[in-house]
Amino acid sequence: MTLLTWTDSNRRDFGKQNLLFNHDLANSDLFSEAALIELIDRYPRESLEVFTMGYDPTVFGEWYLGRANNMDGAALMQAVKAGRLWLNLRRVNHVDPAVRDLCDRIFAEVKTQTGQTNLKNDLGLLISSPNAHVVYHLDIPMVMLWQIRGVKKVYLYPVDAGFFTDAQIEGIALRESDENLPYVTAFDDKALIHDLKPGEMLTWPQNAPHRIVNGDMVNVSLSIEYMTPKSLWHANVLYANGLLRRWFGRNPSVAKSPKLLEPFKIVLARIAKAFGGFKGNKTPLVERFSLDPSRPGELLYDDGVPAFTPPLNWPHPFATSVPANDSEAPVNQPKRAKTTSARPI
Ligand SMILES: [Fe+2]
Repeated sequence: MTLLTWTDSNRRDFGKQNLLFNHDLANSDLFSEAALIELIDRYPRESLEVFTMGYDPTVFGEWYLGRANNMDGAALMQAVKAGRLWLNLRRVNHVDPAVRDLCDRIFAEVKTQTGQTNLKNDLGLLISSPNAHVVYHLDIPMVMLWQIRGVKKVYLYPVDAGFFTDAQIEGIALRESDENLPYVTAFDDKALIHDLKPGEMLTWPQNAPHRIVNGDMVNVSLSIEYMTPKSLWHANVLYANGLLRRWFGRNPSVAKSPKLLEPFKIVLARIAKAFGGFKGNKTPLVERFSLDPSRPGELLYDDGVPAFTPPLNWPHPFATSVPANDSEAPVNQPKRAKTTSARPI
C-alpha cells in the first residue's frame, strides 16, 4: 500500500510540475495531538524554533524568532492555538526514529514510483497558529508540503516567469543575504492558488517561489526538503554562478549560460565550499520575544522591539480568492487568481 495516490502523469512529472497528491497521513497516530506533544518534548529544545510574524502576508521582514524557554509540548500547543506562532521542528527525521522511518518510507516510495534517487532529505514539522503566514520566498532544495491538520492557502508561482533575478537566487544559494524576494501582488495573476487540506500533498519544481497563509485554525504540516542528483547539480550551478558574479564580475544566467560550462561550475562550487564557502551578509536571526507561560499565546517582546499589532477587523476572511471546488481542478496547470486585491486574504 502506498502513502500517496499515484497516477501515470504524477509519476512522470514528479519534481518537474506543480502536483497535488492525496495521502493518508492525516489520521496517522504519529501526528495525533498527544503524539505531537510527546514529539515536541522529545525534540532537542535548542533546535526548536518559535517564530511570530506581522499581519500582512505581502510584507517581507516582519518575522521574529522567539524563546520557548522551558515550556513543555502541551503548553506550546496551547500557545500555538491561542497566539500567532509558527513552530518549526527542523530536520526532525534526523532525531526521531518514528519520523525517520516515515521519511525513509516516503522516499522509498518516490524511488519505486518515479525512479528518482534522493541524496538527502530533511523533514520539518510545522505547527502553526490560525491565520499565521510565510511571505513570498523560494527554497534551493526540492520541496514536498504534506498537510496533516487545518487548511492553508498556498500561492505557488512559476519558476520561469521572471519573478526573481539570477543575482537574487544566487544570493539565496550562497546564503549571502536574507531571503528577501521582492513581491508584488500582480504576481498572483500567474500563481497557482490552492487551499491545501488534510490528506493533501503539494510539490513543485525546484526554486518555484511560494507563500502561505493559514486558515483560521491550527495547522500541522510536514515540509520535506530533499535533493536529487539533478537538483543538487542545479544548486551547485547557482552557487558557482553567484561566485562568478561576485568574485569575477561575470553576469551568468542559469537559463542561458552554456550547459557545457556546468561541470566546471560544479568543480568551482565544490572547491569554494571545501575552503569554507562564500561569506555573505546574512543577518543572524536574534531572539526578540519570549512566550509567556502563564498566558498562552501572549508574547513578551524584548526591550526596544516593535510589537506587531493586528489591523482592524482581524482576522480577515480566508477564502475570498479561491474557487470553492478548487481541489477538483487539475493542479498541474497554473490557475489564475480571481482577484488581484492588495491583500490576498
Ligand atoms: Fe518554502
